[in-house]
Amino acid sequence: MSQSNQKLAVVTGASGGIGVDFATELARRKYDLILTARNTEKLNLVRQRLIQEFQVDVDTISSDLQQSNATFDLFEAVQSTGRKIDVLINNAGLGHFSKFLKQSPDEINQAIDVNVRALTILCRLFAEQMAQNGGGAILNHASFSAIQPPSDFAVYAATKAYVLNFSLAIRENMKYQNVSVSTLCPGYFDSDFITKAGQPPGFFLRWLILKQSKVAAAGIRGLLKRKPLIIPSLRYKLFNLVSKFLPRTVNIGIADIAVSRWNKKD
Ligand SMILES: NC(=O)c1ccc[n+]([C@@H]2O[C@H](COP(=O)([O-])OP(=O)(O)OC[C@H]3O[C@@H](n4cnc5c(N)ncnc54)[C@H](OP(=O)(O)O)[C@@H]3O)[C@@H](O)[C@H]2O)c1
Repeated sequence: MSQSNQKLAVVTGASGGIGVDFATELARRKYDLILTARNTEKLNLVRQRLIQEFQVDVDTISSDLQQSNATFDLFEAVQSTGRKIDVLINNAGLGHFSKFLKQSPDEINQAIDVNVRALTILCRLFAEQMAQNGGGAILNHASFSAIQPPSDFAVYAATKAYVLNFSLAIRENMKYQNVSVSTLCPGYFDSDFITKAGQPPGFFLRWLILKQSKVAAAGIRGLLKRKPLIIPSLRYKLFNLVSKFLPRTVNIGIADIAVSRWNKKD
């Protein structure tokens, strides 16, 4: 990676899904990029397209965030570029949709390792470097399921509730070091995530699904405005407001209705 004066962003989960749109939004704003995920081939395709389209500098680092040392190795690899990091997008994440007792311990570990442990350690490592260099901005990708958790998405939703609460807390904690932490809580959007998580959505969920590119654009706008909580779309902003007046069990019931086609199949 060249020693340019452009701002630099690290994006995890950038081989597919919304991670590619986050990277595109940043490249459009002339950020140089370090993209990371497991799939090297896909990362390279994204890299080539962004360089061609936006003439920015893009590096890729293959990393499996489920591995216990991956976060430290990734941080070291980024450090070795000698560049100051302005933005970190903690986007990599996964979930498995099924009844809790049908989930394997491996699936549970995978979700907790990537969504919680890796995200937390990356925040710890990069935020310290940002603070030492005068500041920076972090976007942590949670989910609307942190607010209304479907019962058949229990582990995933709980990891995202962790991301939401953790991010809001460290934001307060680091505000005097000029490190801002924003949390993105979108409803379902049209990446491969839903299919990978379980089964295709039914009618109600199809109506609720957001456009991935719009979610990414809202996330990057919110990050750059240093907003604490970003909930894209008026529909979900209203759900969030209503959820505050409802008992937690009712919020779970509403989330279950949204994914009811999945429920029936189990
Ligand atoms: N889609 C939705 O409805 C929705 C709603 C709310 C929030 N979210 C959140 O959005 C984020 C991105 O998901 P998406 O919808 O774009 O899904 P996706 O298409 O499945 O993308 C997930 C990304 O995470 C990476 N990843 C998964 N496991 C990894 C691991 N062990 N190590 C490193 N990277 C890993 C994947 O890359 P590799 O496979 O190449 O490693 C991929 O780039 C997730 O945090 C998800 O929880 C999604």
